[in-house]
Amino acid sequence: MTGKKVIITGVPGVGKTTVVNEALRKLREEGIEYQSINFGSFMFEVAKNDNIIRDRDQMRTLDRTVQKRLQQRAGQAIAQVSGNVLIDTHASVKTPHGYLAGLPEWVLREILPDIIVLVETDNDQILMRRLTDDTRSRDKEGSRSIAEHQQFNRSIAAAYAMMTGCTIKMITNADFLLDRSSTELADVLR
Ligand code: AP5
Repeated sequence: MTGKKVIITGVPGVGKTTVVNEALRKLREEGIEYQSINFGSFMFEVAKNDNIIRDRDQMRTLDRTVQKRLQQRAGQAIAQVSGNVLIDTHASVKTPHGYLAGLPEWVLREILPDIIVLVETDNDQILMRRLTDDTRSRDKEGSRSIAEHQQFNRSIAAAYAMMTGCTIKMITNADFLLDRSSTELADVLR
């Protein structure tokens, strides 16, 4: 059995990692196991070993061709993982030169997801979460810019569905409603 391949995306600070951890905890109680993989961590390990960067938040500022090479290597490595797999990544990455597709054709071809999840919430909530997160170097942007990014992610997700035949699921991770968003994700993964 090959298992289910689910990709989870959302703009930085929307709380996708928080929702994933809570959904997987719920599923574990039912005996359902998923291997959780952070796409950015795969890319970062390669970039660090190659002495390109030292901070994961520098990755989106790298030259487009370097990011593409890192994506490709991460996609190939993740494709080798069998069983139920949940891949935490980005539908698009905001770079100084515009949006970079997070799941271009050469990555999707490797992973062939069953479902792509978009975690979303109000732009102002994302802004506040970024401002209060001291652990990361978040991009400084206003709520209008965050809104544009969330909208762009919906558009590009439609293209991913066309390319692979996967389904697209939108989940809202609103303030104080983590139980609701994680239950919704667990339902998708079950
Ligand atoms: P990655 O590490 O995935 O970056 P990120 O989006 O910044 O990920 P986070 O996990 O920090 O964001 P999150 O929204 O999931 O945050 P959290 O759960 O902590 O990737 C790093 C880099 O890798 C990228 O910048 C990019 O360069 C590169 N990369 C990755 N994939 C790529 C790809 N495919 N192609 C090219 N490059 C790629 O939550 C944030 C905060 O919100 C927390 O404080 C949390 O407590 C709070 N919160 C969460 N949920 C709630 C709630 N319901 N109510 C109140 N607060 C909440």
